[in-house]
Amino acid sequence: MTTAHESVTPPDGVVAPRFRPPAGASGSATLSLDGEWRFRLFPHPDTGVDRAERGDDWDRLTVPGHWQLAKAPHAWPYGVPAYNNVLYPFPVDPPHVPDDNPTGEYRTTFRLPADWPEGGRTLLRFEGVDSWFQVALDGEPLATSHGSRLPTEVDLTGRLTDGEHLLAVRVTQWSAMSYVEDQDQWWLSGIFRSVTLEHRPDGALDDVRVHAGYDHTTGVGTLRVDAATVVATAGAVPARVTVPELGVEAAAGEELRAPVEPWSAEQPRLYDVVVSTDTETVTLSVGFRTVSIEDGVFLVNGRPIKLRGVNRHEFDPLRGRAVTPERMLEDVLLMKRHHINAVRTSHYPPHPHFLDLCDRYGLYVIDENDLETHGFQPGGWVGNPVDDPAWTEVLVDRVTRTVRRDAHHASIIMWSLGNEAGGGCNIPAMVDAVRALDPSRPVHYEGDFSSDHVDVYSRMYADSEEVELIGQGIEPPLERADADARRRAMPFVLCEYAHAMGNGPGGLADYDAAFDRHPRLLGGFIWEWIDHGLTRTDADGNPFSAYGGDFGERFHDGTFIADGLLLPDRTPSPGLLETAAVFAPVRIDAQADGTLLVRNRYAFRDTSHAELRWTLHRGAEELATGVLDLVLEAGTETVVRPPSDLVLPEPGDAPVWWTVRAVQAKAEALEEAWLEPGFQLGAGQLLLVEPASLPAPAGRVSTEADGGFRAGPARFDRRGDLRTLAGRAVHGFRVDAWRAPTDNDRRPARWRGSADAEKWSSAGLNLLAERKDGVAVTADGALAVEARIAGPATRAGFAARYRWQPVTDAPDAVDLVVDIRPEGRWPDNVARLGVLLALDEPAAAETGVRWTGLGPDESYADSRKAALGGSWQHTVADWQTRYTHPQENGARRGVTSAVLSFADGTGLRIDAGEVTVGARSQLGIELSLRPWSDEALDRAAHPHELVPDGRLWLHLDAAQHGVGSAACGPGVLPNAQLHAAPVRMRLRFTTL
Ligand code: GAL
Repeated sequence: MTTAHESVTPPDGVVAPRFRPPAGASGSATLSLDGEWRFRLFPHPDTGVDRAERGDDWDRLTVPGHWQLAKAPHAWPYGVPAYNNVLYPFPVDPPHVPDDNPTGEYRTTFRLPADWPEGGRTLLRFEGVDSWFQVALDGEPLATSHGSRLPTEVDLTGRLTDGEHLLAVRVTQWSAMSYVEDQDQWWLSGIFRSVTLEHRPDGALDDVRVHAGYDHTTGVGTLRVDAATVVATAGAVPARVTVPELGVEAAAGEELRAPVEPWSAEQPRLYDVVVSTDTETVTLSVGFRTVSIEDGVFLVNGRPIKLRGVNRHEFDPLRGRAVTPERMLEDVLLMKRHHINAVRTSHYPPHPHFLDLCDRYGLYVIDENDLETHGFQPGGWVGNPVDDPAWTEVLVDRVTRTVRRDAHHASIIMWSLGNEAGGGCNIPAMVDAVRALDPSRPVHYEGDFSSDHVDVYSRMYADSEEVELIGQGIEPPLERADADARRRAMPFVLCEYAHAMGNGPGGLADYDAAFDRHPRLLGGFIWEWIDHGLTRTDADGNPFSAYGGDFGERFHDGTFIADGLLLPDRTPSPGLLETAAVFAPVRIDAQADGTLLVRNRYAFRDTSHAELRWTLHRGAEELATGVLDLVLEAGTETVVRPPSDLVLPEPGDAPVWWTVRAVQAKAEALEEAWLEPGFQLGAGQLLLVEPASLPAPAGRVSTEADGGFRAGPARFDRRGDLRTLAGRAVHGFRVDAWRAPTDNDRRPARWRGSADAEKWSSAGLNLLAERKDGVAVTADGALAVEARIAGPATRAGFAARYRWQPVTDAPDAVDLVVDIRPEGRWPDNVARLGVLLALDEPAAAETGVRWTGLGPDESYADSRKAALGGSWQHTVADWQTRYTHPQENGARRGVTSAVLSFADGTGLRIDAGEVTVGARSQLGIELSLRPWSDEALDRAAHPHELVPDGRLWLHLDAAQHGVGSAACGPGVLPNAQLHAAPVRMRLRFTTL
């Protein structure tokens, strides 16, 4: 038996899809029905409730919203959110869904305002209802609809009186449409976008098609507006089109031409275009721009652009996909401030206001249709709706509604048919529908693997080496020569790459360099913008960010929902800071010849809005400053070097850097001023003077009465175990090669082989223990401790030699030289190479740390463009990155010195001298500090579970493995892998 919500038919009883002006753009009357509705949840669509039932004694629930989140974060009276990525949480048996199908009955009453216009028509508009719904007015069923992220309109004309009306909406959680809405996100239901009544005067502007182009050879903008009425009678309406700012006017359907400033994401110039009939006036913000593909290169206004983009799901930690305008603006501003210039609206059309903001602030958009059927893949795509003619009408309806709703936005540069929905007969059907409505924009769909139907070659998660081949046009051919030739002439885009789960993504700069090298490479979209961690409270009332399984779901995909550049509360993660540095429009990079390469990576603008300020500094101490007199035309570059008359100081206790920052010189014109003066548009630096080397120690250890030893502030037992340092008990000191695995470490690169974390535990790195091999005082007075460090069940291990020596004339200092030598067969990489030191410190989290090295935020071997050399400070608590799923975090690289200030007023200074890894010598060590152990970090499921354990855990590493993005794609590339190798580090500890 197939019930209504299982029927594969387009919406019924609804108005044909139409354009609708943004809120406030038309003078026609509207009435918002948002607010408190009456609500009851039933276990099955057969609720038995009469549509005339008013529900006066039912619960109250806010529309728009998801019923699962109605009382978040404390209570979940209407079922819980559930997270699945690929797999359907119900049997794959289309079009059927389970009988257990939570169904919400919604009720509200309304009256037309006294000044509601006479005549015309009145539509009831839903912007988004998840998943299937039925609408009844005053007890009479009028329409059924679906397409969760698409609008639905029902014509109420002739049914509305002056009296009160009862609106009843029945919404099911599951429907046949759940099969085509299998996006990787929480399953959340209900009326989650606004509901309005809209008056359409007779002869209204129901369909306005804006055709705005820009001829970059003449500077002339062209504009044609086609106006039609579609609600009452289909057909063109006579309308006037004026552009007051340009002083031009024409009839609808005629082309206007005038010199204009074009629209681009860099300079989002918009003009008011006023379209009016006798009965309605609509004012649209129109951008003049032309998108084209020439010789395999994607052009906007005749110039090649690069998409430095992100995939954005709609998300709010309390409201799910019911995002507010404030959240949308926050997202847009955060993107602009981190040099992101493009958004793929993964994987459905966003709330329309988001697109208004993209037009206004300047973001290139791939607008994606509401379609994903990934859950058919494990079954070999058998039964996939995308290859089933029974679904054609439904799928074409969806994409038609998308294009009709959004086509007037200048920001949209491509349409996307959907995501991960396989191939089949409905792909060309959808492409034809899109091209018929809008031939001006290329069509994208990654799932068309041979790119037979689309206009751009799109892939996800290809590694940067493969992308390089594609950039050069020498990728392996397709089997069919015609398809291959066609695809080879297309621009290439990574619709998803650099999976930003947890600590990462690593390797972003490698991709970006390839994009810059090859005109065919259009760029890509990082997966993804934000961690979808929903706020909930634990039994003690502590709020935390929940992921799959945290609501007791029995079938879920765990932490995979937390893979964004923003933490759930929109705190930028280090990955976003790295993104900003890599995407910087004014890129400044050190070159091997001791110069800085400055590149203007804007496609359209010169750098006259930027000032290139330089500083010569030793740590935080400014020695000289200046401004480079330089303006670069769009797309040009130059080499800069420190002024020749710059006087360099003698080597001291910190490195001397020449740092150049390109900063915004004056505010941009928008009233929200997203770019304040001083805002960084790019930065780079050169190391000019290395710090002075540490003087040789040359003191003698003393022997204690108990047979132990003393070297300055360090005491050892007779076996050579370090027992106290800086007046604090030592709870452990040994070589370490493990880290609390990141989400990337936990998954095999490109879904093959074993994960790095697995390799590390099978080599015993997570259970390393030390055996002493000998302790002796050397002829020159040092304490030499020999040890072997290894895990269980393996012959591989590390031979270590720690050489401790007091420092002449510095009674509070001790010098340590650590030599680490790998023995036996090691896995192909190790997590870290260095020493771990655990000090007794009850107030470890409050310990202050001031360090000279790269900062201020964490960096890893393949995520290091954002970190700059200087002196920085934090507390140990602030040093931690609270990834939604706890894991390795916080490494600061290139650290030449660090001063720890303990709560009791004492302190410890750590200096790094020579450091070598294999044959390579480097400046400084990698420092990590935690108020808990790596084991605790690894065990914790959420950050709030981590409790300081009374110790300060320090990692003093020569190196750490990169982070990669193996959670969904390539692992750590060879340029950032760490292999077991001989290591030597010289450190000095001084009690303060
Ligand atoms: C992609 C998919 C995304 C997301 C990602 C993993 O294959 O298109 O929606 O699931 O993988 O985070």
